[in-house]
Amino acid sequence: MQTSNSDLSYILNHLGEEREHYLQAVSPPIFQTSNFTFTDVAAMRNSLQDELNTPFYTRGCNPTVAILRKKVAALEQAEDALIFSSGSAAIASAVMSQVAQGDHIVCVSKPYSWTNKLLDKLLKRFGVQSSFINGTDPQHYANAIQPNTKILFLESPNSITFELQDIEAVVAIAKQHNLVTIIDNSYASPLFQQPIPMGVDLVTHSASKYLNGHSDIVAGVLCGSHEMIRQIFESEYMTLGGIISPHDAWLMIRGLRTLPLRMKHVSETTEKVVEYLEQHPKIEKVYYPFAKSFPQYDLAKKQMKRATGLFSIQIKAESIEEIERFCNRLNRFLLACSWGGHESLIFPMCVLYQSQNYRSTELPWNLVRMCIGLEEAEVLIRDLEQALE
Ligand SMILES: Cc1ncc(COP(=O)(O)O)c(C=O)c1O
Repeated sequence: MQTSNSDLSYILNHLGEEREHYLQAVSPPIFQTSNFTFTDVAAMRNSLQDELNTPFYTRGCNPTVAILRKKVAALEQAEDALIFSSGSAAIASAVMSQVAQGDHIVCVSKPYSWTNKLLDKLLKRFGVQSSFINGTDPQHYANAIQPNTKILFLESPNSITFELQDIEAVVAIAKQHNLVTIIDNSYASPLFQQPIPMGVDLVTHSASKYLNGHSDIVAGVLCGSHEMIRQIFESEYMTLGGIISPHDAWLMIRGLRTLPLRMKHVSETTEKVVEYLEQHPKIEKVYYPFAKSFPQYDLAKKQMKRATGLFSIQIKAESIEEIERFCNRLNRFLLACSWGGHESLIFPMCVLYQSQNYRSTELPWNLVRMCIGLEEAEVLIRDLEQALE
């Protein structure tokens, strides 16, 4: 059997799965237990020496979750990983692990909305300030660094308008100033972008998206070095307790088995759908990192293997009502907020126009985000055709 961690099928089919411990079952058991028992006091004491890797209490280590940690770390080419109950929990733990009162963070200007809330509202209450910068030029990061800066935060691309940061250039700036880099890599998935080999310290994902891929769990991951992951485990992970359940970890292991197939299908189908929309007279603009018209196309090609299924369009419409009619007429795209699952989705930004939680005014009212699922391109194009009519 191939035993290399860089062999994708080995990672997804075998890595971490110690079948001899559970009757050679092909699919691992769900260790649905909070607690683990010991034959004697010495064994109990011994297991506490390494709570990250020894089953003692499921908030720390659970064997089903442990299998998942190994697979996720290998996919990102990281030394280790932690799995959380949501992407937001992973991001919050990563960020909080690197700052204390009086510190400062430089973050790209349009991160995921709850990342923005974390930096701009929650951490401010604890005396941590953040500067938000455009980030399309690495110099924006350099210019915003203060003596108390601790983190350069990236989200490349973001999940609505897809601006990128030059990851290697930002890492070089961080290293010059001895700062930690954290990236939200949810858009690309570890198959299409690997920030750790580019020098990024901590990589987060909303695993609710492509990693799980079936729209049936909410989960998050955090990847990094043995040392950083152990520090975060011993502090934020164990104290905040935002862990994944064994059952959800099992679902994610199952979802991961088909990650390469799903990503291949989604990126090929999306290219066809984007090509169709780019030439449609009712489409004003397409936001898609691998479109030739995308302002950062060259950078996207340089640091990402492929683009995924997420893109946005601006529709030539006279009113929000017209946008609503377009969305309501689609049959094969579900109106829903998340992305990265088997089903195609549509999320019109005009939905945010009454919400207090989102900085909606920055997004054009005629912007609509689409996520391509596992349907055939022709079916989706036909559906778009009739709705645009
Ligand atoms: C880019 C990005 N990062 C992070 C998150 C947060 O992930 P979760 O919903 O799993 O907490 C999301 C969720 O939509 C997202 O789109």
